[in-house]
Amino acid sequence: MSRLVIVSNRVPVPEKGGIVPAGGLAVALKAALEERGGIWMGWSGKSSGESEPEPLTVTQQGKIGYALTDLTDTDVEEYYHGFANRVLWPICHYRLDLAEYGRKEMAGYFRVNRFFAHRLAPLIQPDDVIWVHDYHMIPLAAELRQMGFKNKIGFFLHIPWPPADVLFTMPVHEEIMRGLSHYDLVGFQTDHDLENFAGCLRREGIGDEVGDGKFSSHGRTFGGGAYSIGIETAAFAEFAKRASSNIMVRKARQSVEGRDLIIGVDRLDYSKGLTQRIDAFERFILANPGQQGRVTYLQITPKSRSEVPEYESMQRMVAEQAGRVNGAIGTVDWVPIRYINRSIGRNVLAGLYRLGKVGLVTPLRDGMNLVAKEYVAAQDSEDPGVLVLSRFAGAARKLDGALLVNPYDVDATANAIARALSMPAEERRQRWQGMMTHLLEHDVSRWCDDFLADLAA
Ligand code: UDP
Ligand code: G6P
Repeated sequence: MSRLVIVSNRVPVPEKGGIVPAGGLAVALKAALEERGGIWMGWSGKSSGESEPEPLTVTQQGKIGYALTDLTDTDVEEYYHGFANRVLWPICHYRLDLAEYGRKEMAGYFRVNRFFAHRLAPLIQPDDVIWVHDYHMIPLAAELRQMGFKNKIGFFLHIPWPPADVLFTMPVHEEIMRGLSHYDLVGFQTDHDLENFAGCLRREGIGDEVGDGKFSSHGRTFGGGAYSIGIETAAFAEFAKRASSNIMVRKARQSVEGRDLIIGVDRLDYSKGLTQRIDAFERFILANPGQQGRVTYLQITPKSRSEVPEYESMQRMVAEQAGRVNGAIGTVDWVPIRYINRSIGRNVLAGLYRLGKVGLVTPLRDGMNLVAKEYVAAQDSEDPGVLVLSRFAGAARKLDGALLVNPYDVDATANAIARALSMPAEERRQRWQGMMTHLLEHDVSRWCDDFLADLAA
């Protein structure tokens, strides 16, 4: 079997003792690589100020060799905060209104990709399979090809791919599309993203599907497919069972004793629909006064990308809103919303999911959403909770046992919460069983195997 070289911007830093940063990409890739082994190259998360970052060294931990590089302040600003998170992220999440274009940032994005390619080059052996991940790294294959590398190179996009009318508002969309044509296989989360990609090629007249899962554009033919990312379902379910003895989980259980728990877990991101969700919770209580004092909504929301202005203002907005709702509907002995603004380890999260009667996952747009899958995997098979899931999350396309909602429709989400809390056990078990069977069959190692098998072919 060829050696696997994974490249992504975010990588769990080995010095942090294997703690995986919040975010679906790092969680999934760690699980996949721990099983197969290989090299994982990416950003250390640190800055070298304005001096040239030190050369790469590989730190072996178990089966994974971590090859991390620092970036200069300018690189972080232009490539990561600038183009990746103020252009590609909002555009791919259909938020044209939030995209901020700057020539410097666009140039920085392509420059840092060239830098990553040059740092990676000495590590690459002729038989290595290279698998590049997510929107930070789209131009990487083009850079490697230019340097003469003939290896198989695959790309997987963890976030949505938008329709042509949205993508084409981005000044460098043509270069981004061209960048993808240098891969041997381009993977998306859902059929819907794949259709959008094909639509972009056609509309611009730069390419088309040529049958058999292949696309042709910019003089190259490459594969394209939908590969929905999964979780380590069986292990996570075990984890959740055992987590009930964890001290934090025990404390949480005691503190909600006698009340139903609704749980939400999201990075603090405008794509997650947090303000609409808090509104929906408030509306649910106002419409069902009998529920006052009988439910607790726990929202765990680690800070994310705080240097980007939209995220900073979002942080303020959500905290204020949670405070306002607690002030408006809380009572002397009842705090309706518990809002936690820190990252929680997944061993504790697993136990908290299991305590939750309702998992509230209502992004306005999401590539997949692993939290939805983790919530389902963590449930007790005899007494499972109910997943309330946005129809605009990739996960909704297969988790049909969830109560699907349009997160923009606050009343509908409020009604779904009410329905979830009063759902009879038999219906809950039936809905859960179908989803769990799907998640066991389509776990993260199957996702990895399917993608790599197609790339090898
Ligand atoms: N997560 C975590 N700690 C937290 C919040 C989230 O470890 O405090 C993890 C969560 O368990 C999940 C991932 O971060 O595996 C989030 O992935 P998802 O696909 O739901 O959203 P993303 O953050 O990638 O947009
Ligand atoms: C999403 C993206 C990942 C990213 C993660 C956390 O899952 O698809 O690429 O790593 O969010 O965001 P961050 O900017 O902290 O890496």
